Amino acid sequence: MWKKIVAGTVLLLISGLWAFVKKHDTSKISAISLSNMEQKLDARVRNPIKEVDAELAQVGYTLITEGKANYKEHKGKLISSYFVCTDCHNLNREYSTLTEQSPEDKLKYTTQNNLPFLPASSFYGIYNRKQFYTKDYVKKYGELVNDARDTLENAVQLCAKYCSSGRYLEDWELSAILHYYKSTELKVGDLNLTHKELTALEHHDALSTSEKEELKKSMQSKFTQAYIATFLPAMDVNKRGYGAKGDAENGKLIYENSCLHCHDNARVTYLDLDKSKLDAQMFWKNIDNYTDKSLYQIIRYGTYPIAGRKQYMPLYPEEKMSNQQLEDLVAYIKQLAEVK
Ligand code: HEC
Ligand code: HEC
Repeated sequence: MWKKIVAGTVLLLISGLWAFVKKHDTSKISAISLSNMEQKLDARVRNPIKEVDAELAQVGYTLITEGKANYKEHKGKLISSYFVCTDCHNLNREYSTLTEQSPEDKLKYTTQNNLPFLPASSFYGIYNRKQFYTKDYVKKYGELVNDARDTLENAVQLCAKYCSSGRYLEDWELSAILHYYKSTELKVGDLNLTHKELTALEHHDALSTSEKEELKKSMQSKFTQAYIATFLPAMDVNKRGYGAKGDAENGKLIYENSCLHCHDNARVTYLDLDKSKLDAQMFWKNIDNYTDKSLYQIIRYGTYPIAGRKQYMPLYPEEKMSNQQLEDLVAYIKQLAEVK
């Protein structure tokens, strides 16, 4: 008799616990693609790819990392003879949180994760971004930017042709890259939403238009909608710190993870840089002028492609390298050059 009662109680407890866990299990909603969820709350949210085609996504990955790919009857031809996308863009997350945009956080996070520190924004979460080539990029690309600002497809085309010194993509190539982006997009569960919000998302059909709008806004405040780019002029020669205001150890990280990503063994340019005293002295000799060989100049302006020489260096906006980081780099170069 007692045994039965105990067994009954235990059973009841377990099933109660199960019901509790099941009711609070938000793993299913957390696994949903962010853009699909945003679109359910607001039909105007762009979401050009509804379902990932895994084969196309793989082709997209190959295009991005190797510059060409074969697909069905299409024989791959190079997008650019000078660059692949990953010369300037990482594919992984670059900041400690999804809303962080500071270059200090980016240097720390990318260093910890063995990633280069690059002048362009990562493709991580790019499918979920709402704007491209923000703010000052219009100064560099002019009217071209107008079409590229609001749609990811146009942004990709602008970069394939102009940033890469290449050509416009064919439809299947563009589609492949979008499928790759979609395959790596953020999930609802990446956003640190509250339990209440997750539950509301599960029952979004029952929400009013204004409740949906509010929920969408809350979601969108939890990840970067656009990376802002502010162009700075070359620092005035009288305001430059010349190494006195910099942290050489930090500067070393910038030199290794950024400059050498492209210049080591002259990988994408004629200019071969390494950590020798000679190269550092070249930089030091030019540190107080406004030529391309001055760090204060080259970092803020990069170089431009010209006829017969299409490889160019992208500039670093303030959000991709702060003036303090620039001073850190100068301090490191000064140390390498063994300036007394
Ligand atoms: C030589 C450097 C370089 C190469 C190569 C390059 N890009 Fe870019 N790309 C940039 C820069 C600089 C920007 C400016 C905006 C940013 O990323 O912050 C940019 C922006 C973009 C953007 C908009 C990002 C945003 O958030 O504003 C997309 C999309 C893009 N590139 C796709 C590509 C693709 C696809 C390839 C390869 C086919 C490629 N890029 C190759 C430098 C490059
Ligand atoms: C995305 C690749 C890339 C990155 C990152 C990069 N560069 Fe460059 N850099 C280039 C290219 C390409 C050129 C153009 C030179 C050429 O025609 O081959 C160039 C040109 C230069 C020049 C001018 C050379 C001249 O003859 O006028 C200097 C100096 C320079 N880079 C220094 C740096 C420093 C310092 C960094 C790090 C802060 C850096 N680069 C990061 C690709 C890059």
